[in-house]
Amino acid sequence: MPRLANGSIGVGLLGAGVVGGEVARAILRPSSRQVYHAGLSLRRVVVRNVAIKRDGIPKELITYNIEEVLGDRDATIVIEVMGGEEPARSYIESALSAGKHVVTANKEVMAKHGDQLVRVAQENGVELSYEASVGGGIPMLAVLKDSLGGNRIDTIRAIINGTTNYILTSMDDTGASFNESLAEAQCLGFAESDPTADVGGYDAVYKLAILARLAWGGSLDPDAIHREGIEGVESKDLRYARELGFRVKLLAIAREDDHGLRCRVHPALVPADVPMASVSGVFNAVEFNGDRVGPLWLQGRGAGSGPTASAVLGDVLRISRGVKSERQLRKVNPVSQVAEKSKNALTMDELEVRYYVRLSALDRPGVLAKIATVFGETRISIASVIQKDLDGSRGIADLVVMTHPARECDMQTAASKLRDLDVVSSLDNLIRVEDYERLPGS
Ligand code: HSE
Repeated sequence: MPRLANGSIGVGLLGAGVVGGEVARAILRPSSRQVYHAGLSLRRVVVRNVAIKRDGIPKELITYNIEEVLGDRDATIVIEVMGGEEPARSYIESALSAGKHVVTANKEVMAKHGDQLVRVAQENGVELSYEASVGGGIPMLAVLKDSLGGNRIDTIRAIINGTTNYILTSMDDTGASFNESLAEAQCLGFAESDPTADVGGYDAVYKLAILARLAWGGSLDPDAIHREGIEGVESKDLRYARELGFRVKLLAIAREDDHGLRCRVHPALVPADVPMASVSGVFNAVEFNGDRVGPLWLQGRGAGSGPTASAVLGDVLRISRGVKSERQLRKVNPVSQVAEKSKNALTMDELEVRYYVRLSALDRPGVLAKIATVFGETRISIASVIQKDLDGSRGIADLVVMTHPARECDMQTAASKLRDLDVVSSLDNLIRVEDYERLPGS
């Protein structure tokens, strides 16, 4: 691998937004001992608009021309922090094909095209590292890939979207509505002006696809992951959940069993006394369960320029250590590569969990009996029913039904029958409960 005559390692940077700016300044004026000793040399910074002044980045390094990085044989490592699918994907592929190591923070590209890009990296004997694409500054991927490599992972549970966690925490703390909390998050810069990717659960799906592929191999289409966002969660759900001993979190869950792998992203009731319930604001967390290590827990800042740059720089330093020791990665002959078999993707139908069901129903004799009949007919056992918030003028009350474990397909049948009942004015929410095994002594 080329090193510059002065012994430094050339770096090309694609993107100079908040993360790119932080990475550029960390390389140009290292505050960390490891970055200083790595001897990184920033060769070029590729941006869309060269007219914008970039704080702390010398003007002569800025270019709009990607070829100034791809054609620079001294740019050994390319860092992609532009975001979005294109042209980021094409730039990454071209850099790998040109024999450059790539570090990216791009979850969308890695979730949708990770298999193909990893193959290109292998064929060219270079590394493609993407720690910053999931969980911001939390080293989730390194732990999963390296430290837990001796384990068979059976479960990953994570809060991997800071925006939604901020909104749910704010609704829970203040009683504000979803829209009020979203507006506040936008004002504070935690939510995008178009919040769909975050509040709709798409961002978490991309990140879960990356985690699951590392844990179980094979290819995993993010579109095949069950996805529900937090738009339908109301502050009264958080209040009722709290009274029942739970918090509501947007969870990303992947679990492998004898039949296959099920991946899902949706709001969930989490018991208030488990660590996941206390992850608040923009923080992220992940819990891996391995056959040897048991449950392992990581928590930290999942977004923002500092944490994301921290993860990017960690990848760059690891690659630069390899470059310094002149370690060449073994080029993999694509013909001889044995494709990893993808796990059987399980649908939601056979999922068996407890459910929280919130209904608006008439407050008069016989109503509960009709509702209970629907649950009975669909083989769902009721654990408790609470009547809340009576709207006297309309004679309507909130009913919260907690079930025992039931199959998703039965719950969906029950939901549709409940909606059809003349005594039910609306089925307002259906939230799955995420139960935790209690360890001896916990
Ligand atoms: N939008 C993401 C979040 C951060 O809210 O967690 C970047 O991955």
